[in-house]
Amino acid sequence: MCGIVGYVGREAAIPFLLEGLRRLEYRGYDSAGIATCGPEGLTIDRTVGKLVNLAAKLGESPSDATIGLGHTRWATHGAPVVANAHPHVGGDGEVVLVHNGVIENHVQLKQELAAAGYDFRSATDSEVVAHLIAEGLKRASEAEGADANAPYLDAVRWALSRLRGTYGLAILFRDRPDLLIAARFGSPLVVGVGKGEYFLASDASPLAGRTDRIVYLADHQLATLTPSGFTVHHREQGRISPQIERVKLDELIPSLEGFDHYMLKEIHEQPEAIRNAMRGRLDDQDATAIFGGLNLTPQQLRSVDRIILTGCGTSWHAALVGEYLIEELARIPVEVEYASELRYRNPPIGHNTLVFGITQSGETADTLAAVCETKRKGHRTLAICNVVGSSIAQAADGGIYLHAGQEIGVASTKAFTSHCCVLAMLGLYFGRTRDLSFEAGQQTIEALRSLPMWVQQALQCESRVRAVAQRFADATNFLYLGRRYNFPTALEGALKLKEISYIHAEGYPAAEMKHGPIALVDRHTPSVFLVPRGITYDKVMANMEEVKARGGPIIAIAGHDDPQVEALADEVIQVPEVPEFLQPIVSVVPLQLLAYHVALIRGCDVDRPRNLAKSVTVE
Ligand code: G6P
Repeated sequence: MCGIVGYVGREAAIPFLLEGLRRLEYRGYDSAGIATCGPEGLTIDRTVGKLVNLAAKLGESPSDATIGLGHTRWATHGAPVVANAHPHVGGDGEVVLVHNGVIENHVQLKQELAAAGYDFRSATDSEVVAHLIAEGLKRASEAEGADANAPYLDAVRWALSRLRGTYGLAILFRDRPDLLIAARFGSPLVVGVGKGEYFLASDASPLAGRTDRIVYLADHQLATLTPSGFTVHHREQGRISPQIERVKLDELIPSLEGFDHYMLKEIHEQPEAIRNAMRGRLDDQDATAIFGGLNLTPQQLRSVDRIILTGCGTSWHAALVGEYLIEELARIPVEVEYASELRYRNPPIGHNTLVFGITQSGETADTLAAVCETKRKGHRTLAICNVVGSSIAQAADGGIYLHAGQEIGVASTKAFTSHCCVLAMLGLYFGRTRDLSFEAGQQTIEALRSLPMWVQQALQCESRVRAVAQRFADATNFLYLGRRYNFPTALEGALKLKEISYIHAEGYPAAEMKHGPIALVDRHTPSVFLVPRGITYDKVMANMEEVKARGGPIIAIAGHDDPQVEALADEVIQVPEVPEFLQPIVSVVPLQLLAYHVALIRGCDVDRPRNLAKSVTVE
C-alpha cells in the first residue's frame, strides 16, 4: 500500500513529485523513490525511511527532466530496504514503474520470468510487473502501427492480463521520454489535467494548487499522458472519452496553523468538525435528521429491520458506538463486523438489511471489498465517509459525508467523533420513523446542538492530561476500562496509545476485567477508567476498588466534582457529563490527548508512527 505520483509537461518534474509524495505520505513512509526520464536516459533515486531522506538526496544534484514518477511505500512484500523501494526496473532497463497494491500470483510469475532470463533485484511482488511489461514490449514491438503509443499500451495491457491482484501503476519507458502510462485495478489513481502538463496521483491532494480538473480512473482503465495530451482506455474495450470533473482542491493543501502536530490540530478541530457534520442536517420541525445522499425511498426506510456496520480500526470503534446509538434510538438490531471478516464470512443478509461501510478515508481495502461484496449480492450498501469522491463513496449506493475536513495525523481523532455524531443523527433519523417520540427527538436534537460546546469544554483538560502523561509515560502496559457507550471509548483510547506511543494497551468492558485482564494489574500498570455518572456508575466504581485493592494506579475520566472518584483514583481528569449517548464523543478527548502527550514525552513521531499508514489500501 503506497502513494503514487507522476508528471509529464514542460516544467521540471521533481518539485511536483516531491511535494505530491509529501502529501501522500499518509499512505506509507517506509521508503520513497523517484524516476525521471531525460536525454541522459532514466534516472532513479531511492532512499529508506521518510521522504525527507529522498528530498535530501535529490537536493544534491537536482534534475530538470520534465517527466517522472514517484512512490512512497508501505512495505507488504519485502523489508523496507533500498532494494525493495520503488521504482522498479523491468528487463534491461527499458521499463521503470511504481506500484500500489498486491500481486497475488507473483510467486508463479517470478518463476516463469526468471526461467525466461529476467533478473530479480528485489523481494517485492511489484518487480514482476516491470519485467512482464518488458516482455510485453518484446511481443508488441513486432507489430508496427500508426499510433506511436500503441505498442507501449499493448505491452502494458498484455502484462495486466497476466496479473491476479490489485494495482495502481505508473510506468515510464526508456525509449519514450515523453510518455507516462497509468493503470488502475483496485488501487485508486487520478489524472490531473493542466495546460500542457498532466499529473497523476493516488488521490487528488497532490494536485491542489496545480489544477482543479480531474479524471478519476475507474478499475480496468489505463491512461496515456504526454505533454501534448492524454487518453483513457478500457483494458478490453479500447479508447473511451474521459469525464473531467472540476474539484475544489485548495483546502487540501495541508497546514499546521500554529500547532506542533496535525494530530493535535485535529483534536482541537473537533468542535468545528462536529458542527460541520451536523450543519443543515437537524430538522426542528419534524424533530429528526435530514440526509440528502442516502437514496432510500420512505418505504425502504421504514422496512429496514437490521443494520450491519462495518469498518476497520478507529472506524470500527465508531461503528460499535453506532450499535448502541441506533439500537437505543431506533430499536433496530445492529451488528458490527470487522470489514476484513465480513468480506469472507458470507453471512445471511435479509432483504431489509442495510449495510454501512464506516470509513474516514473511503479507501481502506477491506472496507471497500466488504462494501463491494455485499453490493454484489444485491444488498443496499451505504457509506459513512469523510473523503468526498473516494473509492468507497463511489462504490456505495449512497451515504453520508462527515465533512470533518482533511485528517492527516495517522491516528484518527476528529473522524472518530464525527462518525459518532453522524451515527447519533442516523439513530435519530431511523428512530423518528419508528418509536421515538417527537419530544424525545427534540431532546436528542437539543443535546446534539450542545455537543460542540461540550467537546470544547472537554479540551480544557489538556494541561491536566499533560501532567498525567508525565507521571505515567514510562509505563509499559495500560488498561482502559468502561461500560456501555464507554466500552468502545475504552477500546479507542487503548488504540490511540498503542498507535503513537508504542505502549501495550488493552481496552475492555470494565466488568470483563475480572475474567482475565485483572491478572495484568500491578503497581506499574495504570488503569484508565471511564466513569462519568450514569446507570453503570456504581459498578465501574466497584471495578476501580478491585484495581485499587491490587495496588494498580488509577486514572479516572470522570464528571466534575465527584468526591467518590477523587477519593479512589490516583489521577482524575474531568469532562462534562452529557447525555449518555453522546458521552463517548466527550470522553474520548482526554484519551486522545493522553496518547498524544505520552507519545511526545517518549519522543515518538506522533503524526507518522512506525509501521502504520493513514490509509491501508491493501488487504
Ligand atoms: C488505518 C489507520 C487507522 C484507521 C483505519 C481505518 O489502519 O491507521 O487509523 O482507523 O486504517 O481507516 P478508514 O480510513 O477506513 O477509517
